[in-house]
Amino acid sequence: MQQGLTPDRIADLGALDGPVLVFGGTYGNLEATQAFLAAARGLGIAAGNTICTGDVVAYGADPQAVSDLLREWGCAIVMGNCEEALAAEAADCGCGFDEGSACAALSAQWFAATRRDLDPATKRWMGGLPRRIVFTLVGRRIAAIHGGAAQINRFVFPSTPAADKAAEIDATGTDGVIAGHCGIPFSEIVGGRLWHNSGAIGMPANDGTARVWYALLSPVRGGIEVTHRALDYDHRGAAAKMRARGYPASYADALGSGLWPSCDVLPAAELAERGRALIPGSMFWPFAALPQAAE
Ligand SMILES: [Fe+2]
Repeated sequence: MQQGLTPDRIADLGALDGPVLVFGGTYGNLEATQAFLAAARGLGIAAGNTICTGDVVAYGADPQAVSDLLREWGCAIVMGNCEEALAAEAADCGCGFDEGSACAALSAQWFAATRRDLDPATKRWMGGLPRRIVFTLVGRRIAAIHGGAAQINRFVFPSTPAADKAAEIDATGTDGVIAGHCGIPFSEIVGGRLWHNSGAIGMPANDGTARVWYALLSPVRGGIEVTHRALDYDHRGAAAKMRARGYPASYADALGSGLWPSCDVLPAAELAERGRALIPGSMFWPFAALPQAAE
């Protein structure tokens, strides 16, 4: 992925023949990542048609193994704030948590463990990842970013105003954005354009279930179908390793409970949804809705 980057560190994959698989936030969770790769094989989708929105490593106990697995598979990966911080040998994950918050205290613990468990070559690889990946799917330009177009750790939630999402899409100059970082799967049509977040593979969606999430963008007649898919995996095994290797026990608990140990970053609307099980489903993105669409 380091080939062909612009000075702004944008990678252009050109035109992809759909469907495109989207995932992110593997967070060093090897069991969940293996389950996702098995799902990709089951769907018959190759690495070349798969986009990762970053945060390959974080809370989970296997940062090296997950990085190796994804690199070996060869999917396109956007730099997350975790990769940026680890490549820079920073003191914390750069998630943007308030100083003194529960998120900040927990992140200091897992960040130290992750930094310890990654080899130098992998940190260098992380530093070379693109900050944005663009591709074309049935004539529509789509940008994959981590948080925001300019701010890698910007949280864009379902409740984030549509005008803010529109401004982010404007900043990429595309028809739609695929983002990560916030950990909650959702899709929204914003003025005819797409805002999409596949959710995370390495941590549940704070919905009170242990399921993790990925998504599929499938060309269909007249548009693109965006499908949110839930995944079951060996969360008990992943949590046991976290406890054994000095990763935060509260995040290990979260793998089973499906509830985040701290919700400091959540707006009131997302806080109110905590513990309410999400339902897998699809949303249709009609081309006719695009502002410049001629058909
Ligand atoms: Fe992130």
